[in-house]
Amino acid sequence: MAAALKFEGLKHSYGGAVVLEPPDWSADEGQHWLFLGPSGSGKTTLLNILAGLLAPSTGTVTVAGQELASLSGSARDSLRGRQIGIVFQQLHLIDALTIIENLLLVQNLTGCMTNLQDAYELLERLGISDKAHCYPRQLSYGQAQRVALARALVNQPKIILADEPTSNLDDVNAHRVIELLLEQAILNESVLVVATHDGRVRHRFPYRFDLPGIADGT
Ligand SMILES: Nc1ncnc2c1ncn2[C@@H]1O[C@H](COP(=O)(O)OP(=O)(O)OP(=O)(O)O)[C@@H](O)[C@H]1O
Ligand SMILES: [Mg+2]
Repeated sequence: MAAALKFEGLKHSYGGAVVLEPPDWSADEGQHWLFLGPSGSGKTTLLNILAGLLAPSTGTVTVAGQELASLSGSARDSLRGRQIGIVFQQLHLIDALTIIENLLLVQNLTGCMTNLQDAYELLERLGISDKAHCYPRQLSYGQAQRVALARALVNQPKIILADEPTSNLDDVNAHRVIELLLEQAILNESVLVVATHDGRVRHRFPYRFDLPGIADGT
């Protein structure tokens, strides 16, 4: 069986400076991975490459047997919309829409069935269902971060990429976020990749990939 997600020969430079050159990696369906590395080691760059949002300088990324670079831009967008849920380090919530509208928009944009009940259930499990009709600016950062998580999970993606999903959260909410990510990953047999330097979440992940610092030698 083809790996659910893999990269080979990957290298990325910004303006000639190499910021990422990881060893080859692959994950099978249902595996839960922690990508660990210090600030600047390329975690966000790598997740953007895995999501097909950034083309690597060299190397390939393969999602369910499909090489991302071989797809047209719109085919890549469609694959991402249907198969990949992304929790960004910057939350990117749409300020003009309420929380529940932010969730429904993702379903609409990706051509998935709009399911109001699923969206409410996710908010419930994250302890923010009372905020469904609030706007992002009315939420604390931690609450907004949980909305970003719900938005990434609402389409039941086969690949979940989360960039520092627990930073800025207290212990209780960090635990809640990780448990929800794991629960959803188990439910859909998704590959889960959490990039972080938050040591609090290490023990929950059976697979670990270390990103050494390149530029500053950390
Ligand atoms: N758009 C960009 N242009 C130029 N350099 C960039 C760009 N994005 C990131 N970098 C550089 O690439 C390196 C890796 O950045 P990246 O954001 O991927 O690291 P990170 O591991 O996610 O860090 P953090 O833990 O602080 O979020 C850093 O040295 C950063 O300065
Ligand atoms: Mg980052």
